[in-house]
Amino acid sequence: MGLPAVVQLRPPLHRGQLRLLRALEQYRFVSAPCGRRFGKTLFLLLFLLMSSIARPRAMSWWVDPIHYLAKRAYRQMEQVVINTGLAKQGGVLKSELRIELVNDSVIEFHSAERGDRLRGEGLNLACLNEASLIKAQLWFEALYPMLTDTGGQAAFAFTPKGQGHWTHQVFQWGRSGEKPDYHSIQLPTSANPFIKPRMIAEAKKDLPADTFRQEYLAEFLPDSSGVFRNVAACTGGALDDPRVIPVDGPYAGGVDLAKHNDFTVVSILDRNGRLCWHDRFHRMDWPLMEERISEAAKRYRAHLLVESNSVGDAVIDHLREAGVSCDGFSTTGSSKQALIQGLMVALEQRLIRFPDLPELLVELQIFEYERTPSGHIQYSAPEGAHDDEVMALALAVKAWRDARKNYREGYLSTDLDALRAERRHAA
Ligand SMILES: Nc1ncnc2c1ncn2[C@@H]1O[C@H](COP(=O)(O)OP(=O)(O)OP(=O)(O)O)[C@@H](O)[C@H]1O
Ligand SMILES: [Mg+2]
Repeated sequence: MGLPAVVQLRPPLHRGQLRLLRALEQYRFVSAPCGRRFGKTLFLLLFLLMSSIARPRAMSWWVDPIHYLAKRAYRQMEQVVINTGLAKQGGVLKSELRIELVNDSVIEFHSAERGDRLRGEGLNLACLNEASLIKAQLWFEALYPMLTDTGGQAAFAFTPKGQGHWTHQVFQWGRSGEKPDYHSIQLPTSANPFIKPRMIAEAKKDLPADTFRQEYLAEFLPDSSGVFRNVAACTGGALDDPRVIPVDGPYAGGVDLAKHNDFTVVSILDRNGRLCWHDRFHRMDWPLMEERISEAAKRYRAHLLVESNSVGDAVIDHLREAGVSCDGFSTTGSSKQALIQGLMVALEQRLIRFPDLPELLVELQIFEYERTPSGHIQYSAPEGAHDDEVMALALAVKAWRDARKNYREGYLSTDLDALRAERRHAA
C-alpha cells in the first residue's frame, strides 16, 4: 500500500528546527546541543516520522535515557500516525513500543537503561533524545555498529551536561571538521521563536550564571551545571546483596509514595551515607505496597521519613501498626525547597554515595530551577518528568542526618551495635 498523497506535519517546524533539518539533510551524524524548551523532542519526533515516510522498509529507533520518557515519546508518535492514517493495519504495537507504517517502515522506541541488551539488526536511523544523559557505551558499542552496515544516520538533540560527557567529543568532531560525517549545530533556547524573550531575560537574571549558560545557551561547561552538583562523583558501588545481614546501622530511609502514574520509591542509607537499599514500584495495591516498605524497614531497623501528603497519613499509620519506626513529611512549597537543598548540600559535600541506578541519575540530572508565579525560584522535575527518586533520596538524607545526630549524641544505639561488639569480643 502506498502513502497518502500529501502528509502535512503539524506543527510546522520553526526557524531553529529548520536549521537542524537542513544539517540532517547534508550530514550523517548531527549533534545538536540545544537550550531547554528549544523544541528538540518535538523536532526529533517529526524528523523520525518524515524520514520513515520518505524511505520505505526503513528501520528507525528512538532512544531516550529512561523508559517512561521513551514511552511518552511513543504516545506522541502514536497519536500522529493514527490520526494521519500512516500506520499499517495492526501496525501500532503498544506493548512493544513499535509502529509499522504503510510503506513497511518500522519505528521503535527504546530506552538506554537496557544498556548493552540494546542490539538489533541494521538500523537506518537513530534519534537520541537527551543524548547527554545516555552512556558512551550505548552509542559507541551498541548503536553505532548497528548503523554501520546500512550507512545509517543519527541525530543527537540534548541539553549539554558538561565537557566530560561523550556528546562533547562528538560535538567537537562536528565542529572542527575532523570527521567529515559529523556536523554540529548549537541552538540556544532563543532559537525557538515561540519562547518569549522576556522569559529568557528573567531566567538570565534569576539563575546562577553557569546554569543559564548550560540550560539556555546550550554551552558545554567544564563541569556540568544543574541543581545538583557532583552527581557523577557520588556515583559508585552497589546496593546490598539481599542475602547479607545489614550491620552498618543506624539506617535511615526515605519513601516517596506514588501519586497518579509515577512510582513509589524506597531509599535506605547506611550510617556512612551509602545507598544500600533501593526499591521502586508502581500500580500496586496499598496493602501490598505497605508490606514491601515495612519489610525493607524492618530488615534494616531503619527509621523512615515518609511523604505524608494525600494517602501518606494512612500509609504511615499502617506502617506504625506493623512496627515500623517512621515519621511523616508534609510537602509544601517551602518544606520541599529545604528538603531539596539538604540533598544539594549532601551531594556538594559528597556525603552520600549511590550505585549507578539509571532512573535516579537521570532524575538528579534533569532536576531544574523553576520560577513560581510569585517570582520565587523553586526546584522541580521538568514538566512531565518524575521526581520520585529525587524526593525519596532527599527524604532519606534528612532522616539520615537526624539519625546520625541522635546517634552521635548517644540517644540511639542499635541492637546491631551490640551484635557487632559481641562479634568483636568473640573474635
Ligand atoms: N515547531 C513548533 N511549533 C510550535 N510549537 C512548538 C514547535 N516546536 C516546539 N514547540 C513547543 O515548544 C515546547 C517545547 O517543545 P519540546 O518539548 O519539543 O522542547 P524540548 O527542547 O524537548 O524541551 P525540554 O528541554 O523541556 O525537553 C512545547 O510546548 C512544544 O509543543
Ligand atoms: Mg524534550
